[in-house]
Amino acid sequence: MSHVPNIRLNNGVEIPQIGYGVFQIEPDRTADAVRDALEAGYRHIDTAQGYGNEEGVGQALRDCGLSRDEVFVTTKLNNDRHGYDEAITALDESLQRLGLDHVDLFLIHWPRPKSDRFVETWKAFEKIASDGKARAIGVSNFRVPDLDRLAAETSTVPALNQIELHPWLPQDELRAYHREHGIATEAWSPLAKGGDLLSDERIVGLAEKYGKTPAQIVLAWHLQLGNIVIPKSVTPTRVRENLDVFDVELSDDDLATFAELENGTRTGPDPSNFG
Ligand SMILES: NC(=O)c1ccc[n+]([C@@H]2O[C@H](COP(=O)([O-])OP(=O)(O)OC[C@H]3O[C@@H](n4cnc5c(N)ncnc54)[C@H](OP(=O)(O)O)[C@@H]3O)[C@@H](O)[C@H]2O)c1
Repeated sequence: MSHVPNIRLNNGVEIPQIGYGVFQIEPDRTADAVRDALEAGYRHIDTAQGYGNEEGVGQALRDCGLSRDEVFVTTKLNNDRHGYDEAITALDESLQRLGLDHVDLFLIHWPRPKSDRFVETWKAFEKIASDGKARAIGVSNFRVPDLDRLAAETSTVPALNQIELHPWLPQDELRAYHREHGIATEAWSPLAKGGDLLSDERIVGLAEKYGKTPAQIVLAWHLQLGNIVIPKSVTPTRVRENLDVFDVELSDDDLATFAELENGTRTGPDPSNFG
């Protein structure tokens, strides 16, 4: 079993640097998929209210034989549940679906800046943390101005910002902001959804050089930047492959090759106008 290091969040809570993402895993396949991932060695699961599969995650947690504190569980607030009371009720509903009395990390899924409610929602997240229903609270898809507003209008710095991040979209500005403010960077779609990026000849060349697969080389790049990653796969060999990435150290020249891949491509929505 691969040993996955922890990253220490700004409130002292530790999160495994690789997690298993369950977006687009059908609800009735999720319990099996998560059980397999836990069996393969994952100890961090990333779900969301919007994925419709929290029950399956909870089922796997009950079945797996691991104790509650051995698995780090993240869920996210759905876009239609912003607001102080709504957010608190929505987490209670998630806990019920998961069969848990707390999550390890609760995230605002999208800022929805045009609706202008995320500050109020964040105040509910502060209450959720002080009540012990989430060991850490964070955000997802927040841009620099959104993080600035939280800093100006609330008293808790998010533990983490989960953002679209891969070699096409390395998010240098947000990563620098996070570093400066003690916010961990978590990469969603870390493999850019597994498509063309993994057949780019420069990635394929590096994979051959290091004796790894293209996906492993991309994940190794993330880890070297200090990112937390949550690759998703329902293919058993890939689930294991994505954990076997700790024996690669990319040279400075090879990191420079990654820098050439940046082209601004998003595989998902733009946070400025989504939701
Ligand atoms: N906060 C947000 O707004 C947000 C948005 C999107 C995603 N997320 C989170 O991020 C997680 C991952 O993102 P994602 O699922 O969009 O993209 P991803 O992890 O970058 O890519 C998943 C795709 O890559 C394939 N794949 C996985 N491992 C592979 C490997 N070793 N070799 C080749 N192909 C591989 C998978 O195929 P198979 O499954 O068929 O093997 C799947 O089609 C999600 O599950 C979710 O938890 C968060």
